[in-house]
Amino acid sequence: MNSLFLYEGKAKKVFQYTDNTVMIFFKDDATAGNRAKEAVFKGKGELNASISAKLFEHLHKYSIDTHFIELNGKREHHCHQLNIIPIEVVVRNRAAGTFSKRYSVETGTTLRNVVVEWCLKDDALADPPICDDAIVALGITDVVTLNNMRATSISVNNILTQLFRRVGLQLVDFKLEFGLNEEGKLLLADEICPDTMRLWNNQNESFDKDLFRNDSGDLLAGYRKVEELLINTL
Ligand code: TMP
Repeated sequence: MNSLFLYEGKAKKVFQYTDNTVMIFFKDDATAGNRAKEAVFKGKGELNASISAKLFEHLHKYSIDTHFIELNGKREHHCHQLNIIPIEVVVRNRAAGTFSKRYSVETGTTLRNVVVEWCLKDDALADPPICDDAIVALGITDVVTLNNMRATSISVNNILTQLFRRVGLQLVDFKLEFGLNEEGKLLLADEICPDTMRLWNNQNESFDKDLFRNDSGDLLAGYRKVEELLINTL
């Protein structure tokens, strides 16, 4: 099937097919701090495509509706085309990253409840946090959809927390994106991989993009370990 180039983001390229599906190509590029830091890790795209495919397939077993159809080759996802809601949903189990900085809380602090945050997907504004009322006031989406996004995000957190616990990793936090299909149905979109989550072992060592953000270790080795653990478990 012929495809048409649609969009290039920091870590992915998207091509459109004529049947309301898209092909998402996972690049080797890594960026951090809204492009303040950039590098290329040969093989990262394949690892993220593989890990993300496994996680979407795992979520399907629990009836979470996602855009993912199948892995094509080694680094392409064939997906349903969606109208992406420009909100990044961040789910946190432990304090890290911007949460620790914003509230001056030590990294790794256990949170008394799961925290779901909304950020506006807007690079020019550096993806600022946004509250429910502002999302609805700006016409970004409605309250029912927001509640659905929140409930689905919490379900995804429960499913993935359990999965990673089985392989000896802690799911510290992660980011999700959602979109609506042509029938207006809400589906989980984008990717779920070590670029978009924090995963620690029991010594609180990172197996995710913090290895690059903080220059704290070998990014590809961390991602390879995550893939290996999932292959041996799923
Ligand atoms: P943060 O601590 O920088 O807010 O990030 C929280 C989690 O969300 C972390 O696992 C990284 C992920 N994330 C993204 O994948 N993309 C983003 O644009 C942001 C802000 C966070």
